[in-house]
Amino acid sequence: MKECVIIDGVRTANARAHEEKGWFRNLTPDVLLTSCYEALFQRNSKVKPDDIEAVFCGSANQSGIQNDIARLGWLAGGFPESVPANGIGQQCCSGMAAVEHAARAILCGEGDVYVAAGVEDMQHVGMGANMEFPRRFLERYPPEEIPMGPTAEKVAELYKVSRPDMETMAYWSNIKAWEATVAGKFKDEIVPVEGEKEDGTKFVVDRDQWVRESVSMEKMASMQPSFKLDGLITAATSSPLTTGACALLLMSKDKADALGLRYHLKYAGSAMAGCDPTIMGVGPIYAAQKLLSRAGLTVKDVGVWELNEAFASQSLAVLRELGIAQNAPFENVNIWGGALALGHPLGETGARLIVTLNSIMKTDRKGARYGVAMLCGGMGNANASLWQRVE
Ligand SMILES: CC(C)(COP(=O)(O)OP(=O)(O)OC[C@H]1O[C@@H](n2cnc3c(N)ncnc32)[C@H](O)[C@@H]1OP(=O)(O)O)[C@@H](O)C(=O)NCCC(=O)NCCS
Repeated sequence: MKECVIIDGVRTANARAHEEKGWFRNLTPDVLLTSCYEALFQRNSKVKPDDIEAVFCGSANQSGIQNDIARLGWLAGGFPESVPANGIGQQCCSGMAAVEHAARAILCGEGDVYVAAGVEDMQHVGMGANMEFPRRFLERYPPEEIPMGPTAEKVAELYKVSRPDMETMAYWSNIKAWEATVAGKFKDEIVPVEGEKEDGTKFVVDRDQWVRESVSMEKMASMQPSFKLDGLITAATSSPLTTGACALLLMSKDKADALGLRYHLKYAGSAMAGCDPTIMGVGPIYAAQKLLSRAGLTVKDVGVWELNEAFASQSLAVLRELGIAQNAPFENVNIWGGALALGHPLGETGARLIVTLNSIMKTDRKGARYGVAMLCGGMGNANASLWQRVE
């Protein structure tokens, strides 16, 4: 089998998905996606768009302006018609699944060079917009327990995650994300894109909009629950509605060596797991367990974890059940902050986690041999992927 390495990974900043306040409110997802593709080809001039065997692009809600965004985005950006594009839909796991599809195609020897991407514009294509549930699905699961917020409340209850612990996690996620932003850690992965400030002034967006300069435990403790009157989950302990895009250039190691390209990480496998959709947030427990057991590794072998913070409740349940950490601040998890602070453009995040994992292992954690990126997805899917240092 061949080996698959990450040549490069970029993303747009994550912007607020809001029709008045969002920095990308007047852009469409194809523009964000193709900004990432253009940056990949500019930064890696030995690779031409014609060299790409196929594009895999994840998006959670492939309707409206995101309908067939994989193919339409590629063509809208002026890229070659001869390169096919495959849209991947697996709710929030879509972007990670796109990377895994490309990596497996390389391992099988189907092709040497792929683009894997993820995009979600949660302003123009709302979460769950145009979605209809099959009647028998709704007979199997209580309809009121299917939306994401209620699943997060149920996880908090079942796994006994307290509101102060969730707020502590949100606090540290913000602190780490702000410190990483100010220190310029994301500069290498964020592609600047022209957007608009709240007052309409045009400016180049090169930082994540949701990240707060200061965050207060008192303010968070005073916030009203978002999903039920006596609930524990607030806007501070939920990932916020976000718009963003991300893309990676993946290549067989042989081809990268022949071209003289540098890389740091190779794909070392992935695992998907399914669980009860009404507690979908705990899925990464099972995905990570499968992944580690197949690879013959334990939690201690992994130096860097990127876990999507869909909600603080499910993230804490996952980290505790896996024995990675009990409470924030975490040593090896979401070292530059997580989705509670950075935002979570659904189908983009899985790819973004891998881009950030690559950035962290290239810079702050050069000593780590293995990194894992993992996330849960609506309706009870979860993905985890393992990346191994090869420099
Ligand atoms: C929780 C949720 C309903 C809140 O939505 P909302 O009511 O529109 O709230 P916002 O995110 O706009 O936040 C409300 C206010 O609280 C503020 N706020 C949020 N977190 C804060 C914090 N930590 N400290 C201070 N203020 C905070 C926001 O800035 C906003 O105020 P502003 O408009 O003045 O800036 C929404 O973010 C959501 O549904 N999140 C989950 C998304 C999801 O399910 N994703 C998939 C996961 S699997």
